[in-house]
Amino acid sequence: MIVTTRQEKDGIEIVEFDRAEFLERVWPHGHKPGDRVSIIGPSEAGKTQLGFQLLDAVTTPELPAVVLVMKPEDDTVKGWGRKLKFKTLKSWPPPLSLFESRKPSGYLLWPPHNLENFGATNLRMYQNFHRAVIDIYRHRKTRAGKKLDGMILFADELAGLDDELGMEAEIKMMYSRGRTMHAGIWGATQRPVDVPKLAYSSANHLFLSYMPDQSDRRRFAEIGGGVDSQLIEAITLRLPQYWWLYIRRADRTLCIVRA
Ligand SMILES: Nc1ncnc2c1ncn2[C@@H]1O[C@H](COP(=O)(O)OP(=O)(O)OP(=O)(O)O)[C@@H](O)[C@H]1O
Ligand SMILES: [Mg+2]
Repeated sequence: MIVTTRQEKDGIEIVEFDRAEFLERVWPHGHKPGDRVSIIGPSEAGKTQLGFQLLDAVTTPELPAVVLVMKPEDDTVKGWGRKLKFKTLKSWPPPLSLFESRKPSGYLLWPPHNLENFGATNLRMYQNFHRAVIDIYRHRKTRAGKKLDGMILFADELAGLDDELGMEAEIKMMYSRGRTMHAGIWGATQRPVDVPKLAYSSANHLFLSYMPDQSDRRRFAEIGGGVDSQLIEAITLRLPQYWWLYIRRADRTLCIVRA
């Protein structure tokens, strides 16, 4: 059921969905293994929450997700990890447990932080995240991976991976070549300027929240693919907190997802 439609100045009507309705009726039908997803919104916009809700709707033991967690503490991540029964790992790869009765639908890759030694913490994150990205990228070339429908890498702090850990090459590889490998990258970031342009120019699915900064909103003009950048700018200027503008590039569908 469509909740309501909103008339823009130029007469275009934008459909609004309740969150539950969107997650059940819209999102799972538009998503395919290997799809690239970008979630862009300022601090506390609800990126992590939305990311896990989207994962909840599509992940299975045959399409598992690996969430790269960079913060030393994150209650949103912890709560969702528990709810979705994702397995928390301090390092990659997961241990081989022959008697594991049921594979999880996802993993939280959360290396421990040493707050007295940022260099060592960053190195540990880099090494483990790098191994995970490579394994996800080439999973179909392995025996275990052949049984999967695909894998999802959820980079909850895309900008941090890029500029703090120096993983630009890995991010670009996933955004540009992951699709045919059924290795999807989902990235969340606070601003569209701190990440490779590919993160939004090549995403199949974009979720944009209220953007206070004009230059950030202008950056959305680079999304391209026939999507009206002025309309995007106008909408992202006035979305309430936790609301999202959803753009599906394949058919240039736009809608608003409520909190
Ligand atoms: N749709 C929603 N309705 C109500 N509360 C929400 C909603 N989405 C997120 N929240 C709450 O808002 C807070 C911030 O959410 P979240 O951690 O997902 O934000 P974030 O954008 O990932 O923040 P950060 O940039 O700090 O990582 C959390 O307490 C979360 O429970
Ligand atoms: Mg977050």
